[in-house]
Amino acid sequence: VIDQGLRPKFLQDYIGQTKAKEKLEIFLKASQLRGESLDHVLLYGPPGLGKTTLASIIATEMSADIRITSGPAIERPGDLAAILTNLKDGDVLFIDEIHRLNRAVEEILYPAMEDYAIDIIVGKGPSARSIRLDLTKFTLIGATTRAGLLTSPLRDRFGIINKLEHYSMEELKEIVLRSAGILNIPVDDQGAEEIALRSRGTPRIANRLLKRIRDYAEVKGDGEITLKLAHRALELLEIDRLGLDKVDHKIIEVIIQNFGGGPVGIDTLAASTGEEKNTIEDVYEPFLLQKGFLSRTPRGRIASVKAYDHFGFSRS
Ligand code: ADE
Repeated sequence: VIDQGLRPKFLQDYIGQTKAKEKLEIFLKASQLRGESLDHVLLYGPPGLGKTTLASIIATEMSADIRITSGPAIERPGDLAAILTNLKDGDVLFIDEIHRLNRAVEEILYPAMEDYAIDIIVGKGPSARSIRLDLTKFTLIGATTRAGLLTSPLRDRFGIINKLEHYSMEELKEIVLRSAGILNIPVDDQGAEEIALRSRGTPRIANRLLKRIRDYAEVKGDGEITLKLAHRALELLEIDRLGLDKVDHKIIEVIIQNFGGGPVGIDTLAASTGEEKNTIEDVYEPFLLQKGFLSRTPRGRIASVKAYDHFGFSRS
């Protein structure tokens, strides 16, 4: 978990995600001009790109309070009903991993999102009846790794849908320099660039690397993060030139060595690497796909020519 202190508080301090930011800026302003609460927002994209941060920023920009929870944490319809009836007018409710809500809980959410009301069942058996309870206006912000994981009735109830993309090198460098400033870590330009280069397009990883390399600099160096020091630290951390770690290497190795380069189904790949299927799909695969090391076909994952070269396998 990242220090609260590194998370930007306002939209203007949030680096990157220009598209999402530009849209949100307009929708926030419009809702404020009308004196209404913002429409419900769905944020999706790989982990660590700033979905929770963006949700907190939206709340701050609306001068609203935010209540943070997650799909798996809400076990029964009554749990969600309790959260919803305790919201104050204009509050933001953030549900992380919203695709993991169970069916019964999800069904409470439909009228809550659409009509700001919930239907609760009182009594049992033949005397059971449903009563409607009005809620105050609120903004639901849902986060998930892939929009396709949501049921369509849930997805359809979000008025604003934003995809978060991997960050560019320049954006990550700016984030590293910003974080280093906040944490008082001496880092030179090339040092910051190297961290950006190895962070897989992900601010959470950039901030984590920054802290571990600082540890290394304080113990093995004079405290400053230079290019040379960053190289040595990253070698110890077993993170390669492109930011790929041991799990990435394992995934490619299994596809090439055990399955002749593929195609390999995701379940087989999970079993052979010892990683969770979801972790491969949400964390590792998006970056390997983006870098062109993997391609996805209906019959499974295939390692590219580029993968053979980068990971040092011969193609004969
Ligand atoms: N820290 C983590 N993510 C950030 C972002 N997108 N902008 C600024 N600082 C960050």
